[in-house]
Amino acid sequence: MKPREIVPDVLAVGAQDFDRRLFDALIPLPDGTSYNSYLVRGRDKTALIDTVEPAMLHVLQACLKDVTRIDYLISNHTEQDHSGSIPWVLERYPQARLLSSEPAKPMLADHLGLDLARIRAVADGERLDLGGKTLRFIATPWVHWPETMSTYLEEDKVLFSCDWFGSHIASTDLFVDGADSIMAEAKRYYAEIMMPFRKIVQKNLEKIRDLDIRMIAPSHGPVHRDPGSIIRAYRDWTDDTPHNTVVIPWVTMHGSTALLVERLVGALSERGITVFPFNMATADIGQLAMSLVDAATLIVATPTVHVGPHPMALYAVVLANALRPKVRFASIVGSYGWAGKMADVVKASMPNLKVELLPPVICKGLPKPSDMEAIDRLADAVAEKHKGLGLL
Ligand code: FEO
Repeated sequence: MKPREIVPDVLAVGAQDFDRRLFDALIPLPDGTSYNSYLVRGRDKTALIDTVEPAMLHVLQACLKDVTRIDYLISNHTEQDHSGSIPWVLERYPQARLLSSEPAKPMLADHLGLDLARIRAVADGERLDLGGKTLRFIATPWVHWPETMSTYLEEDKVLFSCDWFGSHIASTDLFVDGADSIMAEAKRYYAEIMMPFRKIVQKNLEKIRDLDIRMIAPSHGPVHRDPGSIIRAYRDWTDDTPHNTVVIPWVTMHGSTALLVERLVGALSERGITVFPFNMATADIGQLAMSLVDAATLIVATPTVHVGPHPMALYAVVLANALRPKVRFASIVGSYGWAGKMADVVKASMPNLKVELLPPVICKGLPKPSDMEAIDRLADAVAEKHKGLGLL
């Protein structure tokens, strides 16, 4: 794809990766992704903001083939999907100075083997005048790594935000007008990499509250021409109050746990609660992560394998523990054959979740009527807790 103008003298020169299906050997990419890079041309100087995944370097090379001079290469974020092609840019444009945040300097050296002398750290709030195009650097840590910054183009009011406000989607559309059409992808992306840093994302949102933003140009997904909608979505996702929803990652081996889950899903639904069950044998973990963004309650349902939980259920627990959603309540449901410490292992595997644990329901073999009644009581307890938060 050729360079495309987002505002006068600012070109998108990145790559669409329609075929990629997995990120970090972990995150599903049902819609592919993109690695956005932006060329900003002032009267006097030219800057390139971020680069592309090295596997797509040929696209960046083609976009820059007629660009004879780059004075500044700005690295907003060190992860290699944005920084991986920096060595090529520095070699092709030997006069270019690499600008990054102070914490990014050693990280760029470590990850890319760059010479520290080639990198200049910029301060939070520092301005760079390209001649009619003024870039302002804004420290925005933990969206996604601790070194991350954003770059604001003052004259055109464009925020180059790198990962935050982005979405894993490959598209021929340069712009999105209102985030509705890509909200699912944007939420999935927030859930997978930003949710663990929710409190710091809140602070970053406060930091840009008074910034006059006409466009947000992230480093994944289309450019937001209606930045208000994605900013409002981020405010909701990071807000401390959860929604009236329960997430149930579950696994069954011989059907007993499935019967408990079926009863639980129905009982919660009858009490006015939205339920998101995920059969971990087939679940898309991106959708599981998305559902955790708003959930008030997490209930893990698993049979017992030897003495512990099924590994696929434990995978969901480990993931939730790593993503640190705002869930307030948790419980465990499941079955065993002869004995086991399944519930203890599940509890011990979620230390990051600051939750109130509601009484687990664990049955021996096939669920009996008394087990189903215990499930109904668990649903009552969840409903009471949600009422207590004003969610019901
Ligand atoms: Fe898109 Fe954290 O890199």
